[in-house]
Amino acid sequence: MTSGHKTRYRVVGGNQLQGTVFVQGAKNAALKMIAASLLAEKGRTVLRNVPVIEDVRRAVELAQAVGAMVKFHEVERTLVVDASELTSPVLPGDIASQFRASVLFVPALLHRLGEAVLEGEPGGCNLGSRNLDFHYRGFARLGATVVEGENRIHVKADGLRGAHLYLDTPSHTGTENLIMAASLAPGTTVIDNTAQEPEVQDVIAFMIKMGAKISGGGTGFITVEGVKELTAVEHTVMADRIDAAVFAMAAAITGGELSLVGASLDHLGVVRWKLEQMGVEFATQGAILQVRRDKPLRPINVITSPYPGFATDLQSPIMAVSCLAEGTSYIRETIFDGRYMLAGELNKMGAKVEVADTVALVHGPTELHGAEVTAHDLRSGIALVLAGLAADGQTIVSPGYFIDRGHASIAARLTALGADIVEEELS
Ligand code: EPU
Repeated sequence: MTSGHKTRYRVVGGNQLQGTVFVQGAKNAALKMIAASLLAEKGRTVLRNVPVIEDVRRAVELAQAVGAMVKFHEVERTLVVDASELTSPVLPGDIASQFRASVLFVPALLHRLGEAVLEGEPGGCNLGSRNLDFHYRGFARLGATVVEGENRIHVKADGLRGAHLYLDTPSHTGTENLIMAASLAPGTTVIDNTAQEPEVQDVIAFMIKMGAKISGGGTGFITVEGVKELTAVEHTVMADRIDAAVFAMAAAITGGELSLVGASLDHLGVVRWKLEQMGVEFATQGAILQVRRDKPLRPINVITSPYPGFATDLQSPIMAVSCLAEGTSYIRETIFDGRYMLAGELNKMGAKVEVADTVALVHGPTELHGAEVTAHDLRSGIALVLAGLAADGQTIVSPGYFIDRGHASIAARLTALGADIVEEELS
């Protein structure tokens, strides 16, 4: 973990959540935009609605490490990037080894400095085997040389050229990274089997404003015509659909009623239908999404898949909610093989979750009891906070850092809705 301080969350459950909550800007769009802003040699990029989370702080540190002048105005949730001078191709290991999104800085470094060095094994949340082979194979197809050393990856290119690329699966970051690499590569790049997540489309919209020529966003088949330069622009990051869904699930698990400001029902997609099947009600009132649950929860059947399927990032939170459902829920994880560590933690709280390979059966309803539990990654961490909100007694979730990687001010936002939760510093 890169954070200088260690924290944990202490949750006392039993309160029904009520009130209004502001959905943060999308982590998985903002991180890519920070990296893309380094493609612009002139001007200053202004990103608005940037979530104040640890992963954004790491991305800012990486951009600064390679020489960009970056200021994160956290109160204004606004980031200003001046990338007119990049001075180092090295993405330092103390950050890169904990933060998979580091690889997103490779395209800008290749275009600007002709090389990029990723120190350490690019890390991230502990989600099992997560390769970056699509990224490196794509860079190589565009003309780069990729040399894997003992504890570093060195990517070099005298100049990239457009090429035909193919992703074995529609990788979210892989799609964005190859678009960035292709954006300044002379000629035409075609990428088959691209990711269609709304965040990918927001990154494309940002890059088109910068002057990139990208077509086919949202279709699974993207064409990029290389341009000579990209310019700094202003952009407002879309709302975070995972953060929105987590708050919808906080209403669901506590039997409460919340007004979500900034959430889009369209972006929730299949998650909306699944929660409705469980007994959650949604209503749109202008810019506000109203969510409530006052009936008993019904069990659910969820299979994760790339957008527009059920997001793997919401698999852990819905597992927590389904512990309270009247019957057995069926969950199948198809994206990441390390996402069931949560089951053992929920079982410590009295849940009955049975895991066999990629399938989890959640036998409900169970009464959840407070316990000391471990977050193995960001999404299992927030799922344990949800479970803690519905449990009797006190739940302690640690390390807090994982939750802080992706959710802004979670204790403050939940407290404002009536939850009893604090983040504690550990000495
Ligand atoms: N994969 C490969 N090789 C690659 C790239 C991916 O085998 O080169 C595999 C992965 O191992 C995985 C699957 O393809 O089995 C999908 O991975 P993908 O590349 O789509 O994931 P990602 O881009 O690394 C992003 C989000 C994740 C989110 C996934 C899936 C960011 C920074 N991260 O990761 O977010 O779970 O897409 O939607 O955008 C999170 O926010 O908690 C998080 C983990």
